[in-house]
Amino acid sequence: SMNGYEHYMLKEIHEQPDSLRNAMRGRLNDEDATAVFGGLNLTPQQLRGVERIILTGCGTSWHSALVGEYMIEEFARIPVCVEYASELRYRNPPIENNTLVFGITQSGETADTLAALNETKRKGHRTLALCNVVGSSIAQAADGGIYLHAGPEIGVASTKAYSSQCCVLAMLSLYFGRMRHMSFESGGRIIEELRRLPAAVEQALTCDSEVRRIASKYAEASNVLYLGRRYNFPTALEGALKLKEISYIHAEGYPAAEMKHGPIALVDKHTPSVFIMPRGTTYDKVMSNMEEVKARGGPVIAVASHEEAQIRRIADEVIMIPEVPEFLQPIVSAIPLQLLSYHIAVLRGCDVDKPRNLAKSVTVE
Ligand code: M6R
Repeated sequence: SMNGYEHYMLKEIHEQPDSLRNAMRGRLNDEDATAVFGGLNLTPQQLRGVERIILTGCGTSWHSALVGEYMIEEFARIPVCVEYASELRYRNPPIENNTLVFGITQSGETADTLAALNETKRKGHRTLALCNVVGSSIAQAADGGIYLHAGPEIGVASTKAYSSQCCVLAMLSLYFGRMRHMSFESGGRIIEELRRLPAAVEQALTCDSEVRRIASKYAEASNVLYLGRRYNFPTALEGALKLKEISYIHAEGYPAAEMKHGPIALVDKHTPSVFIMPRGTTYDKVMSNMEEVKARGGPVIAVASHEEAQIRRIADEVIMIPEVPEFLQPIVSAIPLQLLSYHIAVLRGCDVDKPRNLAKSVTVE
């Protein structure tokens, strides 16, 4: 049931503190400062020998793969490739020995992801599923895997599955990191940060009424740009996909610095830009990107983690989210973007849980 919420999507957005707790339950090990997973079906030797990881999926699951790439490369220093499942299968790229292939999927039924995993498995590579639906086709086809334990996701727009995928990928990076060079202290710190995540998401959800107000100002837009860097670049893609899929507004996500290579030509007073800019490594750079957009007359919505006069001066709207370490920002900063697309879609009278032309799981290639 919808538990008093008007749509499944809204219910699922608000479930995220709990679904994240469920993703982590029993998987954080203080004694060894690492993560533990039951079903990888690989020996420690096989895992230690992994020299490359391919992350593959479609749609939102492809976005969490991009987040996973940044996390695994930062914490475990293992080279990662992210591939659209639909391309991986037919592109037939050379894959080195000791490559581990992860299929990321909420439903476990996406035809392209299943086909990509079966094809890499046929070639003799080890395949794992990062999946929500227990016993699904992809969970069965893979050599092993990790369940998200997010509970059923009914809304066509993926919300809690996305945050759980990012969370499991963070634990996976910790796990691979601790197998290699990562110190006990660093592992312990990451565990602490993960434990604080559900509370941070809870706090992020309190932006709801502010986001609803902002939604009513911009619901008539025909184009929206989403911009962010590093860990917040996949978030930009995810925010744009959410808006397209349920409100039918054209939206694009870009790494903020790519703006000046073309997309900035789209900016005018009818085209809002959403800047995802919690404080971090590229904060000042994104601030100047935002200034450039403002100077060209584009309305600016900033998602920020710190009250700052400069942001208030440049941006037309500011949505506050709590501060978390950079690798966890994609999970927290996705919250206002999910809510923004939700409220805009409702205002436009769209069928939020069942958008036109879409199905919850895409079982055709
Ligand atoms: O079930 P999957 O994670 O394999 O589904 C992949 C995509 O079809 C899915 O994420 C789709 O993009 C969502 N509707 C996005 O919200």
